[in-house]
Amino acid sequence: MSLENKSANLDESGIRSLREQAAHAAKHAYAPYSHFHVGAALLLEDGHVITGCNVENASYRLTTCAEQAAIARAVVERGAHIRIVAMAVANENATIACQPCGACRQTIAEFADPTCRIFFPGEHGEPGECTLADLLPASFNAQSLQHTASK
Ligand code: THU
Repeated sequence: MSLENKSANLDESGIRSLREQAAHAAKHAYAPYSHFHVGAALLLEDGHVITGCNVENASYRLTTCAEQAAIARAVVERGAHIRIVAMAVANENATIACQPCGACRQTIAEFADPTCRIFFPGEHGEPGECTLADLLPASFNAQSLQHTASK
């Protein structure tokens, strides 16, 4: 089954479960500077769900976002071939919307198709949903470098 079909087949209970696992991961966040506790849960093509949380640093720019932590962990645990079917992001500040930041969008694009569904906390605590294509249209990706492959 294609990644697109797998993400389309995700039902309401599967989506709720992903959101809950992201929220659980947010409880583990190390965010003493921003106090913005973020969690991410990735549903992989093989059915595994891998979570991550943000890990901040006194040298602020070394902070790792929840999505990037989850992706690094997914590669460690499941291998370099991972493909993300869908993912959820959660944060503990329930009224604040939280979509993946620009750097995370690029990182997600490395391991997901444009059809990848992304569930996030929208405005005023409303659940939000979009696709990777919505967040990162016209992405720079592996295909952009294809002409260098034969060199
Ligand atoms: N953060 C994430 O973990 N993911 C995002 O996509 C947005 C921002 C974290 C980074 C930092 O620890 C805190 O949220 C505030 O920016």
